[in-house]
Amino acid sequence: MISERNDEIYAVGQLSRIVSPLLAWYAKQARDLPWRRSRDPYAIWVSEIMLQQTRVEAVKPYFTRFMAELPTVKHLAEADETRLLKLWEGLGYYSRARNLKKAALTVMCEYGGRLPRSYDALLLLSGIGSYTAGAVASIAFDIPVPAVDGNVLRIVSRILADDSDIADAKTKRAVTDMLAKIMPQGRAGDFNQALMDLGATVCLPVGKARCEVCPLKSLCEAYLDDIVESFPVKSAKKQRRIEKRTVWLVSCGDRVAIHRREQKGLLAGLWEFPNEEGHRSIKAWREELAERGWHAVSIKSAGEANHIFTHIEWKMKGYWVEVSELIAEWEWVGRDELTDVYPIPTAFKYYQEQVMKKEVQK
Ligand code: ADE
Repeated sequence: MISERNDEIYAVGQLSRIVSPLLAWYAKQARDLPWRRSRDPYAIWVSEIMLQQTRVEAVKPYFTRFMAELPTVKHLAEADETRLLKLWEGLGYYSRARNLKKAALTVMCEYGGRLPRSYDALLLLSGIGSYTAGAVASIAFDIPVPAVDGNVLRIVSRILADDSDIADAKTKRAVTDMLAKIMPQGRAGDFNQALMDLGATVCLPVGKARCEVCPLKSLCEAYLDDIVESFPVKSAKKQRRIEKRTVWLVSCGDRVAIHRREQKGLLAGLWEFPNEEGHRSIKAWREELAERGWHAVSIKSAGEANHIFTHIEWKMKGYWVEVSELIAEWEWVGRDELTDVYPIPTAFKYYQEQVMKKEVQK
């Protein structure tokens, strides 16, 4: 177990041997990523927030667009929220964008517009947890602190052939403590990014590991014992809750109804097609809608779609509803505004595409 004292001393010794081959490998194999061309702490921070729950390939175009439109902390602090969320549309986890703006205001007001050069101060900013604080501190300021995520836990568990549960916070703490002891002075950012690249391209999850090209294979206990596939050990997560929803694509002439979500909770403050919990038959809905005073000219199926969030999965059924009067509780927008102005979460992407297609057919 990594977390036990004597084993820890031995494990740190083992781990310290990876530093030099890993840095040599990174010098040759580092991925060419847009945020790596910048030394600007702001750019590095933005990239790390985008990368928190999103794949590198997906982040690339968002990062470039974001930096072109909001090139400094001041631009971000002053950005209009709807515009900001529009720039974020499709990346998901929108609280990241809101926290980014909130933190930008803190950086403006408390640090004169410059990101603080301290791991602890970074950790206090909205939206920055231990991984992001470690990544930004090391990459932007060369502060020797680790950035430990699932990829790093997988690599370390294999190097040490350690069967501690990586879903356990204790394991993460133990790995962080060990890596802190071996961080190379003056190369902290490269070391952390080398681990990120190794985890993303070589030391891949079970079934995909590419040990034959790994620069650390001669130091990897799991590889040497031919038990790579047994690591990492991870306890099962709680299952996602399934939620049935009905989505209304309500049109009146050329306009479509949208609605702003509450400022709290899932997809807070974003815009959506009116929707509600539960599935029913068209007949049952027709009756219920009539009771609510909607006079639907027609109701037709608009197809089904699923969307997976961290803790919930939406199973959606959509309906086209044509009405002859604008219903006051909603905002009525043209198709162009739907794409250019209002941030609509990816959860509704399928229905947004249906709405856009429908116009093309007209
Ligand atoms: N994932 C998180 N941060 C990253 C970075 N700086 N480079 C590549 N992948 C990452």
